[in-house]
Amino acid sequence: MTNAKSYKIAIVWRGDRQARAEATATNGRLSAVFAALARQGIAVQPAVWSEDLTEEVREQLRRVDGVLVWVDPISTATGERRGTLDALLREAAAAGLFVSAHPDVAGKMGVKAVLHRTRTLGWGADTELYETHAAFTEEFPGRVAAGPRVLKQNRGNGGIGVWKVERLDGTTVRVQEAKGAPEPRTATLEAFMAERAADFEDGGLLVDQAFQPRHLEGMVRCYMSGDRVVGFGHQLVRALAAPEAGPAGPRLYSRASDPRFQRLRALMERAWTPGLARLLDIAPDALPVIWDADFLLGPRTPEGDDNYVLCEINVSSVFPVPDDAPDALAKTTLRRLAATRGPRGAAT
Ligand SMILES: Nc1ncnc2c1ncn2[C@@H]1O[C@H](COP(=O)(O)OP(=O)(O)O)[C@@H](O)[C@H]1O
Ligand SMILES: [Mg+2]
Repeated sequence: MTNAKSYKIAIVWRGDRQARAEATATNGRLSAVFAALARQGIAVQPAVWSEDLTEEVREQLRRVDGVLVWVDPISTATGERRGTLDALLREAAAAGLFVSAHPDVAGKMGVKAVLHRTRTLGWGADTELYETHAAFTEEFPGRVAAGPRVLKQNRGNGGIGVWKVERLDGTTVRVQEAKGAPEPRTATLEAFMAERAADFEDGGLLVDQAFQPRHLEGMVRCYMSGDRVVGFGHQLVRALAAPEAGPAGPRLYSRASDPRFQRLRALMERAWTPGLARLLDIAPDALPVIWDADFLLGPRTPEGDDNYVLCEINVSSVFPVPDDAPDALAKTTLRRLAATRGPRGAAT
């Protein structure tokens, strides 16, 4: 039930003018989110955005209390980035709207540099960060000589700008890109490193993480709302596997109570999420209403327990698939709206 005093929020995803005209609360991928927000008494409207719809969305945001956003950093279909959207969201937040994820928070958490900035937490693997091409070409040869590495561009998704690099001999490396699972290629280390110069343009950087040999045992996606675990997804990933390992498996979802992952859940809620917020200087109630942390298995602990290595954090476009996730997201949103806008919704 919604009434004149309901909070009003807009939900943003990427689409063209036709998609904007046709979007409803029930006909898209986010229908479970719309329904969960409505169960909290929040009035929700779709706000389909693309660059040329920015003015329409700006106008729409003048009449709501908050905005939730599902837009990838880089469109996997067109390669477009989301700079104009982030500017609009900053403007909305400055005008007093509740925004999740805020672009500043996404810029801290939802980038690969987070792997380096939080490497001292228990989820950290052997991780380097290169801010210049000169530092990269100086330091990378020594690292890849010691074992296979995974290089990641700071901003990316869908395997864009992620490479496994393995030394074959003193001068050549085998390179496998995570996007589209192509055959690995052989290159001289020098040529491969020269190619990477473009990754440092416009403030870009590269993160260099130890390759995790247990990757074929699967990835655990830990779904979060604020500082709480709200579900899990387990998937047999194959992005950096040899072609003969076959295709990736489906992601299988379960609730936060899944007995297989209670150690991970406790670590996330008690140690790693507070640690992340502290290291990145994010206020605990500025953590996004939905985000996820992807873990690979690291070496086992001496007690034989699984050890988890952070692979990446997603904040820009996390679909809350586990059963309890949409309601958890909606409850977090309601609390944040009350904190940002006061006990009443926008004036009608
Ligand atoms: N250190 C690593 N060791 C083994 N495999 C990795 C490692 N890092 C990433 N991968 C594989 O590459 C895929 C893509 O990397 P990820 O960091 O998730 O970037 P994105 O999803 O943004 O493209 C992961 O899903 C995983 O299969
Ligand atoms: Mg990933």
